[in-house]
Amino acid sequence: MTKEAKDAGAMESNRVIIFDTTLRDGEQSPGASMNLDEKLRLADMLAGMGVDVIEAGFPIASPGDFEAVEAIAKSVTGATICGLARAGAKDIERAAEALRPAERKRIHTFISTSALHMKYKLQMEPDDVYQAVIDSVTLARKFTDDVEWSCEDGTRTEPDFMARCVEAAIKAGATTVNIPDTVGYSAPEEFGAIIARLFERVPNIDKAIISTHCHNDLGLAVANSLAGVVNGARQVECTINGMGERAGNAALEEIVMALRTRQDLLPYTTNIDTTQITRASRMVSAITGFQVQNNKAIVGANAFAHEAGIHQDGILKNAQTYEIMTPESVGLAESKLVIGKHSGRHAFRKKLEELGIDLAADALDDAFRRMKALADKKKEIYDEDIVALVDEEVRDNDQVKVVSLQVVCGTNGPQTADLTLEVDGAEMSHKSEGAGPVDATFHAIRAMVPNTAVLQLYQVHAVTKGTDAQAEVTVRLMEDGKLVTGLGADTDTMVASARAYVNALNKLLASRDKQAPEALTA
Ligand code: KIV
Ligand code: ZN
Repeated sequence: MTKEAKDAGAMESNRVIIFDTTLRDGEQSPGASMNLDEKLRLADMLAGMGVDVIEAGFPIASPGDFEAVEAIAKSVTGATICGLARAGAKDIERAAEALRPAERKRIHTFISTSALHMKYKLQMEPDDVYQAVIDSVTLARKFTDDVEWSCEDGTRTEPDFMARCVEAAIKAGATTVNIPDTVGYSAPEEFGAIIARLFERVPNIDKAIISTHCHNDLGLAVANSLAGVVNGARQVECTINGMGERAGNAALEEIVMALRTRQDLLPYTTNIDTTQITRASRMVSAITGFQVQNNKAIVGANAFAHEAGIHQDGILKNAQTYEIMTPESVGLAESKLVIGKHSGRHAFRKKLEELGIDLAADALDDAFRRMKALADKKKEIYDEDIVALVDEEVRDNDQVKVVSLQVVCGTNGPQTADLTLEVDGAEMSHKSEGAGPVDATFHAIRAMVPNTAVLQLYQVHAVTKGTDAQAEVTVRLMEDGKLVTGLGADTDTMVASARAYVNALNKLLASRDKQAPEALTA
């Protein structure tokens, strides 16, 4: 086969497979852990929005990861469910076991191929790594026909060695070959050339889909991924809101909207229903407690806001003057439904539907009651208020709940907090003093739910404008090396603070029940 024919074969389809790794690489963001129920909800939503492959976790990493991959494999349909495994037999067998119930399953096995990683991290000779590539892919193929192989630290790998390993992986049965920019070091031209070079050098390249997995350490993850696509990659690995290790991964919403918006330059398609993007972003943010920065592309609060008078004037005359995509295309429809004091349950449910929020009957009742209470305190209820309020309703299985809080604060101390919690279904109260009302509140929580967690972050921001705005508080706690993030919202900053602390604490309590993950060194 001539090179031209090969290239034409591998690149004939312009459909880009979207591989979402929010549940695996995304969950590796320090403080972004999710519980089983949250992972299931997220996986369901990803499948519903048209993600082709969901990387559900790293089954050998911990019993919790195994359980999550298995549960997703059992219940989520419509997408291929993938589990990550290092090159060893134990990892691959564990991944295969977790994936057994899946309708469509993929084992994703990886090993480092850069000289640096092979020498210092793996302490293996290149020939042994090469053999491990063959052995791992061959073993994975015994469990499924859909095997992905990744060369970790691909962009710092010596090109000839990469080409040899890719050829061997495909020969051993890999159907997808993924080229990670593990440390986010590459630049678009260079990354594109790495992919192009594989098409030139690897004789059996047409037997596999080439994939990108770019980290965002230099803010180039999306640009690098797109350069990969232009040069023949037909799978992009990405995460909602760009979650992931360190500076994160390429953001799914940015990749998909760039492809959709710049069809003139990037004539590729995906299977994603883009109107689900805002909902997905909000769900990930609510579950992980990671707020999206206001100016974040596509899903930031300001992404479609026009402040400057000259822009507003242009928009009113013709939206295209300053809008390259419509808010509706990402599911940000301008709402005609105003929720307030006099709104009924039906209107509230309709509003939730508009916002892409689906609540069970109990949670809906609770959210409705809280919305009414909020409407008594606050004149205008914005969509953001409802999202913040509902975020807390989806925390069904919490061991600890805030029942009531009364604080005394001001210039004449002592500042005190009188707090009632529900712990495992039983109410208990405690009054504490502190250096300010937040400190007193957190002391009271610690008195009732003893823990050794260290507060890493306490942050308050107003959900909307006005002095009656809800405060959204983020609390990050660290206990025994485990970092968790909690969110809480209320018009009363102290109540929001208590809720955020308790939310983080619930995550710690849930993770305490699980065995600590094995050290993953290879
Ligand atoms: O960044 C990376 O190299 C990875 C691999 C496991 C694909 O996440
Ligand atoms: Zn990664």
